[in-house]
Amino acid sequence: MRKYILLALLFCCTILSAQRLSLIPQPAMVELGEGLFVFDKSSKVKISDYDGDSVKILFDRFAADFKTATGVSFKKTKKSSRADIELLLEESLGYEAYKLDVTTDKIIIRASKPAGFFYALQTLKQLMPRNVMAAVADSNISAWSIPVVSIHDEPLFGWRGFMLDEGRHFYGKEEIKKILDVMSSYKMNRFHWHLTEDQGWRIEIKKYPKLTEIGAWRNSRVLGWGEVKPDGIHYGGFYTQEDAKEIVAYAKERFIDIIPEIDIPGHSQAAVASYPEFLACDPENSHEVWLWQGVSGDVINVSNPNAVQFAKDVIDELTAIFPYRYIHLGGDECPTFKWERNDECKKQLAEIGSNNYRDLQINFYKQLKEHIAAKPQSEQRQLIFWNEVLHGNTASLGKDITIMAWIGANDAAKDAATLGMSTILSPQIPYYINRKQSNLATEPHSQGYGTETVEAVYNYAPLKNVPDELRPQYLGVQANFWTEWVETADIVQYLTFPRLAAVAEAAWTPQEKREYKDFEQRMQGEKIYYRLKGINFGKHIFK
Ligand code: ACM
Repeated sequence: MRKYILLALLFCCTILSAQRLSLIPQPAMVELGEGLFVFDKSSKVKISDYDGDSVKILFDRFAADFKTATGVSFKKTKKSSRADIELLLEESLGYEAYKLDVTTDKIIIRASKPAGFFYALQTLKQLMPRNVMAAVADSNISAWSIPVVSIHDEPLFGWRGFMLDEGRHFYGKEEIKKILDVMSSYKMNRFHWHLTEDQGWRIEIKKYPKLTEIGAWRNSRVLGWGEVKPDGIHYGGFYTQEDAKEIVAYAKERFIDIIPEIDIPGHSQAAVASYPEFLACDPENSHEVWLWQGVSGDVINVSNPNAVQFAKDVIDELTAIFPYRYIHLGGDECPTFKWERNDECKKQLAEIGSNNYRDLQINFYKQLKEHIAAKPQSEQRQLIFWNEVLHGNTASLGKDITIMAWIGANDAAKDAATLGMSTILSPQIPYYINRKQSNLATEPHSQGYGTETVEAVYNYAPLKNVPDELRPQYLGVQANFWTEWVETADIVQYLTFPRLAAVAEAAWTPQEKREYKDFEQRMQGEKIYYRLKGINFGKHIFK
C-alpha cells in the first residue's frame, strides 16, 4: 500500500502546483485531472514483452535514475492488478507516439515501440520536480507524486535536430554527453556532428592517419578575423573511433541518432594539409590547417581519382562507426577558383559536358553515392547536403538525397521538395543559435546583432506557406551551432540553452498549440534543471 504522509504530501503538492505541467515540448494533447498519484517507496511495474527485452532495458535505466533522484525503487510484477505502473503495447500508435494516463491508483503507459515508451517516461519525469530529470537526489522532498493527467502525444516531425561544429573547436566526449542528455529531455532525436572543417579534422580514420596526426591540430587557438590575429598556440584534438562509438552508444540509449558530417570538397583545408599530394589542387604549394575564420579556397581536387578514393574510404569507416541511415557530406560554401585554374579539373568539366564548375562537385558526390549504392543492405546510407548543392546539376544525384536548408532556407527547402528530395529546415536566421541572443554587454563574443532572442527562435514557424502536397518531404527542423568564436564548452552551453528548447518545441508540438508566453512560463523550472546538470545557460527569460 502507498503511504500517505499527509504533511509531506501537502509540501509536495505546493511544489507540484508551481511545477505543474511544465512540459517541454508541449504535448499534442493534455488533459489535467484532479489529485495525485503518489509513489510508494517500493513500487511495482508490469512491462509487456517486447522484442529483445528492449522496453524492460529502457525501463531499468529509467528506474536507476529515478531511484537516485527520489529513493523510489521498482520491482517487476506479472500481475496487472498489483502494478503501480504498467507499460502496455498498443500497436496502432506511431513509432514515437505514446499515451500516459495517470489516475490516483495507477500509471498506464501505452506505445508501440521503445521510442514511444522512452518519451512517455521522459514526460513522466518532467511532471515531477526537475531533480528527477537531472537524476540528482533532493532530500527536501519526502513524498514523490505526479498529477492525475491524460497525455496523448506524438511529434510533429521525425527530425528534431541539433548540430554542433567541432571542426573549429574541440570540446570532448563529456561535453557531447551533456548536450545529448538535454536533447533527450526535450525529445530531440538527431545529433548532427560537424566533424571536419578547414580549421580541424576531428575523427580518426584508420586508413589516413595523417588526418588526425596533422589535420586535427593547428597553430592557433583563436581563429583570426579582422584585428584578431592567430596566437601561435598549438591546439586541437580529435575523437578516436572508440570515442565515437562510445558517443554512439550513449546517444542510442537516449533515442538519438548521430549524423556524422564530413564537409567535402569545400571546408576541407585540414584534410588538404594532411594529404596535399592527392587532395590539393596545387600540391606544389604548401598547405596548413587553417588559422582563420571565413571560407577557405583550398578545396579538394575532385578530379583526382585518389581524392575520390579517399572520400569513399572515409565513408566506409564512417559507415562502420555510425549505424544510422544518414551521412552528411556538407557541400556548402565551396569556392571553385582553384578548379578553374587546374588542368585536370578543366578537362573533367569538359568530359561531363558542362561549363558550370559546381557540376564537378555534383559529379564527385555522384561517384560517392554510387559507391554507397553498391554496398550490402546493412551498409546503405542516405546522403545529406547543405542547400548550395542545389546550384549544380543536382537532379543527376537522384531524388533520394536530403537537402539541409540554411541560407534562404524557406525557398531552398521548397526547391528541394519540388524536385522530390527530402529537406530539413535549419534557417540561419533564427536557428543558428551560436548567434547573439541579446544586445546586453555581458553577451559573449559571437556572431549576429542580438536579434536571435529566445522569442525569435521560438516564433519561427517551419511549415508556414508550405503547400500541403510538399509537406511529406519536410523531415523536420534543426538548430545549428557554429563555433568560430566559441572556444569553451560553457559558452556553447550558454548560447545553446534555453534556445534549443524553443527549437525542440517547434519540432514536436503542432503549430496551433504553440504560444511564446506559455512556453516562457513552462520554461521557468528549467533553470533548476540546468543548474543541477552543471550546465551554463542564457538567463534572459528566467525570472
Ligand atoms: C553553413 O552555415 N555554411 C552551412
